[in-house]
Amino acid sequence: MDVVVVGGANMDLVSFVPRLPHLGETLLGHSFMTCHGGKGANQAVQAAKLVKDASAVGVIAKLGDDANGKEIRESWERIGMDRSGVLTTTESHTAVAPICVTDDGANAIVVVPGAAALLSIEDLHTPPIKQLLAQAKVVVGQLEIPPEITLEAFKIARASNPSVTTILNAAPAPEKLLEGFFANTTLLCVNQEEAATLSRLPCSILAEAKEACEALLDAEGPCPTMQVVITLGKDGCMAAERFNGTGPILTTHVATPKIPPEQIVDTTGAGDSFVGALAVLIARGAKLVDACEKACVVAGESVKSKGAQGGYVGRDQLPASVTNAL
Ligand code: RIB
Ligand code: NA
Repeated sequence: MDVVVVGGANMDLVSFVPRLPHLGETLLGHSFMTCHGGKGANQAVQAAKLVKDASAVGVIAKLGDDANGKEIRESWERIGMDRSGVLTTTESHTAVAPICVTDDGANAIVVVPGAAALLSIEDLHTPPIKQLLAQAKVVVGQLEIPPEITLEAFKIARASNPSVTTILNAAPAPEKLLEGFFANTTLLCVNQEEAATLSRLPCSILAEAKEACEALLDAEGPCPTMQVVITLGKDGCMAAERFNGTGPILTTHVATPKIPPEQIVDTTGAGDSFVGALAVLIARGAKLVDACEKACVVAGESVKSKGAQGGYVGRDQLPASVTNAL
């Protein structure tokens, strides 16, 4: 098992709008579509599209016993991901995410987790899920499910395989991460808003992102195994790690290929494409900065189509320089 993603799977309810509505305003949109989303599901799907055999990617998620859940489950079947960690509950609905996408491709998102919030510690300790976590080279989690569940997944994986890489995409970002995350996370990956929330530092220009990246790396005192990546949209990303684990902090700005504005249709899920790609590259042994460069290429492609997973490319649609590392 290369990559196991634990997290939320949402039905995205996407309205394409000229701009975001103001409070109390009714705004007419141009068009609407439903598509498969959720940070966990997006990351798993992007990873599955990049590996040679999709069954080397597993997803751990809880869906509702409803039409949306059924459709999502079927899409995973078609892709061929390992679904031994997929649970269904009758106690709530499959998560939904009303999303507004503006004419320039930016978005605003609400997530209502429903069934996803019911994924429990006991669920993680059932044999199929425990086994998935134990076999993973890389375990990826986000915060659309209760944080203690993501953390427990990391702990289970670490207990059976101390050399597992755990990637925390701390999205949505809380004011403070649950205690225990820093000790159990190998790589923290967040976008600029999330980095600003977590570090309490501004993070809008490159120089600020560098400082925020370094502050997050040191947030809990020296943590030899930690790496931090802040994604910066069209500006690529910032990556920080310690030289040889305990040495000075090395921070690198990684640029992303330029996408002409007329090709930018929908940036929803671009960050998840990045995380999914990063996870596969790391499972293949890529070093942090190299993995970031290639993950930027993958994520760049995703903004050219509507919907989160809509624009995710497979290994055959990428330049050889990227595919060879996958
Ligand atoms: O990161 C993008 C995703 O955020 C969307 O697919 C939506 O479902 C929310 O989880
Ligand atoms: Na897209």
